[in-house]
Amino acid sequence: MNILDIIAKKRDKKELNKEEIDFFVNEYTDGNVTDYQAAALIMAIYLNGMSNEEITNLTLAMAYSGEVLDLSKLGENVVDKHSTGGIGDKVTLILMPVVAALGVPVAKMSGRGLGFTGGTVDKLESIPGYNTQISVEEFIENVEKIGISLMGQTLNLAPADKKIYALRDSISCVENIPLIASSIMSKKIASGANKIVLEVTVGNGAFMKNIDDARKLSETMINIGKLANKEVVCILTNMDEPLGYSIGNTLEVIEAAEALQGEMEEDVKQVVLELGSYMIKLAGCGDDINENKKRMIDCIDSGNAYMKFLELIENQGGDVSYINDVSKFENAKYVNPVLSDKSGYVKEIDAEKLGKISCELGAGRVKKEDIIDNQVGLIINKKIGDIVEENEILGIIHANDKDKLKKAEGELRSCFTICEEVVHKPKVILEILN
Ligand code: URA
Repeated sequence: MNILDIIAKKRDKKELNKEEIDFFVNEYTDGNVTDYQAAALIMAIYLNGMSNEEITNLTLAMAYSGEVLDLSKLGENVVDKHSTGGIGDKVTLILMPVVAALGVPVAKMSGRGLGFTGGTVDKLESIPGYNTQISVEEFIENVEKIGISLMGQTLNLAPADKKIYALRDSISCVENIPLIASSIMSKKIASGANKIVLEVTVGNGAFMKNIDDARKLSETMINIGKLANKEVVCILTNMDEPLGYSIGNTLEVIEAAEALQGEMEEDVKQVVLELGSYMIKLAGCGDDINENKKRMIDCIDSGNAYMKFLELIENQGGDVSYINDVSKFENAKYVNPVLSDKSGYVKEIDAEKLGKISCELGAGRVKKEDIIDNQVGLIINKKIGDIVEENEILGIIHANDKDKLKKAEGELRSCFTICEEVVHKPKVILEILN
């Protein structure tokens, strides 16, 4: 078998068999297929698509390109959660302590931000001392001891996906259903859970820009799950505006700490409760979705979820005094408001652009090797449907560099479309598929 024949086959719109897909994935992971050959094949897949069988074979080949965790020690039903990515998405930080406090074991490996979307690992690392790079043994021990551990993906978890994802990012091939579905599901299969709740974001701040594509992506992942013996629920959520009020690592940790103490933004709350209630159901801890939501609210109100968050941080070496007193986090050098130049109702927010502004301030990586600045980011004071007066604050920029601040100030206002007619708040939970 050789890679040139495989590229030519896909270029000519033919279906690849399991051996050909395994050959590509294994040889590329081992460095025997070059980046330019892999780029040609990925572009051919992007342009010509893949059958369900090809997608499943690609997923399994990537999942088994490294270690596949065995989490059976943690129980019969081990539930994982994943988001297709968004702007200001701090859901994992809030949701996981709540479900862990309700007795659902949480063993979650998270990713770093790439492109305009943020990543949970970067957020966790903005808590002084928090160690995301623990061993797999320690990860499992933590879950056995306190019911929760959040860590970064180990180098050996689906290494083929890591390589292919970075390649896709550098050749404009991220937004593609077969490639996203196989990327996400390969990591989920390798992380060892047998039940998976997927948040599929839809809108201008998401990879899926419309509901039809989000449905297609969800159905593809549910189908892979069936073939791999994993139960999958997809929750489609709105990402036409950032989630919650903050974008940026420390800023989002502060919002998460406040949320777990009862001060939770309405859109964040809806996503947390929906995802959590399905996690509880899949874990076999309660079949009634509404009852599960009520238990989650009680768990937050009682302070148990916040205590679990502190326990998680302390157990992984983090300094909880920053969480108990968030004023200990040092502010960025410049904290500047941007004012509205007219009054009216917020009609649209360009979430993707806000993600890019935050990224350019230093909160995310423009290139893979960039170093994150935890302090910088944006506070969003107005959301879709809100009334805004002239000279009222639309958002606040947290920056450490004067030139970047100036650029962000010019751009932030243009992310808001303000009109005279009343605008209704968008629906947050769009659909649930399983
Ligand atoms: N998240 C992933 O893990 N992979 C993708 O391809 C897109 C989003």
